[in-house]
Amino acid sequence: MFSYITSFFFYIGLITIVSYAIPLILAAYKWGPQDLKKKYNAKWALVSGASSGIGRAVATKLAQQGLNVVLVALDDEALKGTHQSLSTQFPNQQFRAVGVNLGRADETYDYMPIIEKATKDIDVQILINNAGYIQLSAFFRSPIAKQLANLECNMMSHVKLTHFFLSKMVEKKLKGCITFTSSQSAFFPAPSCSTYGGGKAFLAEFAASLAIECHNYGIDVLCLMSGPIMTQFYDKAPKLSAFKFFHSISDTPDTAADIMLNGVGHITWRDSSLFTMASRLVVKVIDMNLLIAGIARGQGLSSDFKNHPELR
Ligand SMILES: NC(=O)c1ccc[n+]([C@@H]2O[C@H](COP(=O)([O-])OP(=O)(O)OC[C@H]3O[C@@H](n4cnc5c(N)ncnc54)[C@H](OP(=O)(O)O)[C@@H]3O)[C@@H](O)[C@H]2O)c1
Repeated sequence: MFSYITSFFFYIGLITIVSYAIPLILAAYKWGPQDLKKKYNAKWALVSGASSGIGRAVATKLAQQGLNVVLVALDDEALKGTHQSLSTQFPNQQFRAVGVNLGRADETYDYMPIIEKATKDIDVQILINNAGYIQLSAFFRSPIAKQLANLECNMMSHVKLTHFFLSKMVEKKLKGCITFTSSQSAFFPAPSCSTYGGGKAFLAEFAASLAIECHNYGIDVLCLMSGPIMTQFYDKAPKLSAFKFFHSISDTPDTAADIMLNGVGHITWRDSSLFTMASRLVVKVIDMNLLIAGIARGQGLSSDFKNHPELR
């Protein structure tokens, strides 16, 4: 009897690890760069959050493949700079800068009509939903309007853009792909940025179901579960000692862009760094309730928790 029980748990563990590891091994050793322009017979891509970091790296890689790119981000110097730099680097292609605030949608302002108008004469077949930012504080300490703006940018804008462009792709029988930039915090507790983690968790689940719905239409869906990346992401956040650790293990935006674009059509949830993979293994082994209880009781030991009252 004991040996049956031992075998049962051994095989459960084996299936869990092997089914997780196989796609990651294939991603590391088999899935190389792919020409998305050819793969989807596409002319246009749209990248949100294209003015810096991961989005800018993805836009550059898509341009290298010969795609025209719509660059969506806040209407600022970063967007102008990226637009100018890509237009100079790739003179034979078209780039459209669409400056909008994806974190705002109310009676007086809506970014969707602006994006719809800017793309009405083109077919976007590669949609990179990437814009996002982190807002660090205990949930109750920051006004609800700020929390909702964060969710509008990190989550709702991606839902709205996906609905608009996916409907058009299906209607015109076009193939293509849709990606989301999620994070390790999608599946691991993210205290002091709970709306950020919640929004990223939504993207992961949304992508999982959408991938199945889109399968028969030749539209691939990928959700990147990013670990720390060296970008401007942390610039406006309080200077936490945890960030020193994150910086020491950060990937470059270029690496993140490669991992995302190489995985499209092969995998739906792409854990992109050792940090994400190690965290995934932890939640596979340790039940979430135990993990939450452990972190809740242990958080007082963290120097960031002690030194930054705004986080607690
Ligand atoms: N870096 C990391 O460690 C990390 C880890 C996990 C997930 N991610 C995710 O990766 C994605 C890209 O971030 P990143 O690391 O590349 O950071 P980044 O360099 O700060 O880039 C963020 C991009 O989003 C745009 N953006 C921010 N708020 C916006 C708004 N309200 N409306 C329109 N555009 C807005 C920014 O435009 P401006 O430059 O004009 O502000 C910028 O183009 C985000 O979704 C982030 O959550 C990052």
